[in-house]
Amino acid sequence: MKPLIAGNWKLNKTVEEAVETAARLKIILQGITDKDILICPPFTALDKVHHVIKGTNILLGAQDVFWEEKGAFTGEVAPEMLKDVGCDYVIIGHSERREYFNESDETVNKKIRSSLADELNVILCVGESLEQRKAGKQETVVEQQLEKGLKGVKKADMKFVTIAYEPIWAISSGNPNHKPATTNDAQEMHKFIRYILNILFDDKTAESTRILYGGSMKPDNVKELMAQPDINGGLVGGASLDAESFAKIVKGF
Ligand code: 13P
Repeated sequence: MKPLIAGNWKLNKTVEEAVETAARLKIILQGITDKDILICPPFTALDKVHHVIKGTNILLGAQDVFWEEKGAFTGEVAPEMLKDVGCDYVIIGHSERREYFNESDETVNKKIRSSLADELNVILCVGESLEQRKAGKQETVVEQQLEKGLKGVKKADMKFVTIAYEPIWAISSGNPNHKPATTNDAQEMHKFIRYILNILFDDKTAESTRILYGGSMKPDNVKELMAQPDINGGLVGGASLDAESFAKIVKGF
């Protein structure tokens, strides 16, 4: 399966800074075709960044979306609008949105279905908190997030869905003390996610769905993580902000 390395820039970069990073990436990642590369700038920079990377091997994604097409929903952005500014992907259900913006499995599900209806690729983020892991509930939590998040999604549409496993306790941007999951813990959960996809859909879907790891992925640990059989890529936060460090991750396995 072709790996995907995605950079989630979160709430960082002015338009000018975003354009600068994208322009640098375009040069240093030129010619890489055996991996999919995706960057997800803030909404404000999407259009300009699109013009920089259009026609290159770098894909564009947004960090969130709303489920309605249009109307009186102040502050929201529709899937069609993201496509209009060149987005190929959208991240849905990131733990930061679940924690700070009341994102629930139900709203995640609406966003996924609406994006798929508009043929936008989605990255569904799942992952447990430290408390949940300490209580041994990590599998139950992730299973619920998958089941509810993917409710009503057709098997045929699963080719537009990527899963990102991001244990909250491993996310370093926002908490510099956080450490990545061990490769064993990550692999174990990725295998479990595939098992759940098999139950929800079928074996073929489970085997062909990309499952990204997110949480302190850096140039020095990407190789070990990517060597795990069920890790098909990464969703990178902090280390994706600098073009050189993101390129090291893309090239590091
Ligand atoms: P870090 O790579 O900064 O740990 O963030 C991971 C993440 O939240 C990506 O979505």
